[in-house]
Amino acid sequence: MKGAILAHEKAVTDLERFSCPGELRTGPGSLQCLKDLRAERLLVVTDPFFYENGTAQNIAREAAPKAVAFFHQITPDPSAELIARGTALARQFRPDVLLALGGGSALDCGKAITLFTDPRPKLVAIPTTSGSGSEVTDFAIITHGTVKHPVVDPRLRPDMAIVDPKLVEALPPALIADGGFDVLTHALEAYVAKNASPVTDALAEAAFRTCLQDLSASFHGDLQARGRVHTAATMAGLAFTGAGLGLCHALSHSLGGATHLPHGRLNAMLLPHVLCPGPKLARLARGAGLEDRSDTMAIRSLHNALLRLRRELHLPATLAEAGFSPGKLRQEEVIAAALADPCCATAPVEATEALLRQILRPVVQ
Ligand SMILES: NC(=O)c1ccc[n+]([C@@H]2O[C@H](COP(=O)([O-])OP(=O)(O)OC[C@H]3O[C@@H](n4cnc5c(N)ncnc54)[C@H](O)[C@@H]3O)[C@@H](O)[C@H]2O)c1
Ligand SMILES: [Fe+2]
Repeated sequence: MKGAILAHEKAVTDLERFSCPGELRTGPGSLQCLKDLRAERLLVVTDPFFYENGTAQNIAREAAPKAVAFFHQITPDPSAELIARGTALARQFRPDVLLALGGGSALDCGKAITLFTDPRPKLVAIPTTSGSGSEVTDFAIITHGTVKHPVVDPRLRPDMAIVDPKLVEALPPALIADGGFDVLTHALEAYVAKNASPVTDALAEAAFRTCLQDLSASFHGDLQARGRVHTAATMAGLAFTGAGLGLCHALSHSLGGATHLPHGRLNAMLLPHVLCPGPKLARLARGAGLEDRSDTMAIRSLHNALLRLRRELHLPATLAEAGFSPGKLRQEEVIAAALADPCCATAPVEATEALLRQILRPVVQ
């Protein structure tokens, strides 16, 4: 009897481990905390957009370091070579603080650089898209050739995340749409993932509800709604870094490597096809305001709501609509890469070749 209780306790402890960054600042004006950073040697990792428009330099000035260097060559889906170049600069410059500024690509690149830099600088992440949640996760997606490798390591988790809605005020509509569907996918997959816990459920449920209700208004210019979606993106990141993801992400990683289409856009194509029937998903739908008599009807309402929102945000339903010729896709390689993706391990259903093929079929037609 005692042995059984101990075994049960161990299982619960394993499942309900939850970690978050040392410090999380959210909301308007949160960038002001840069003044308290006390950086001596600051390395800013960002993409050309934020270097050329001066945002990276303004942010560095707020932090008032004694010395500053910029690594501003980040391109979407950072490659291992790019990370190696950034690491070489970090080893030479020896920063005490590395500040990653940008979308998921710049944040992932900055995170990966700290993993290979000794001594490891303090890692501060400032997202400029509302999507990846990378500012709080222990994931970094590194692209090698045509394969996107999710690297999962607790040392990748930023020490501090600053989530200021000011940085998304001028976000172009296409990025709002792509990122928004990444948030919806993180929240939904985390909610039904194998390692979900009451803590990750609360974060996933709130993030999903907010994003489903506010994304359209944000897309059409409502800055209050955009600010709420920005915080929801971070909450969904916290949820999935604790709970894990599922088959939608396994496939969107492998399709992203093969097609170089934006990550959120691929999730928008795949998400309606990974909805597994079950009481938990029905609860997520009801929590988001999609009331219905039976669980089956609630999940159907959720499916229809995702299709409506995808259309409204001008997102594609297929690779062809996204401008990628499906004839060029090596489907066998995409499925093999998805089966090897760590997101399969936390999916609520077993990842099989047949199931992945079935999910992919409507997207490649
Ligand atoms: N580490 C994680 O936990 C995690 C989770 C999900 C996705 N990802 C990865 O993140 C990447 C996608 O990140 P993303 O969707 O944030 O896009 P991104 O970082 O790839 O950026 C896309 C484009 O948007 C531009 N951009 C960014 N912010 C902008 C702004 N405020 N205004 C105008 N332009 C802006 C960038 O310059 C870039 O050209 C993918 O590689 C994906 O695999 C990582
Ligand atoms: Fe994602």
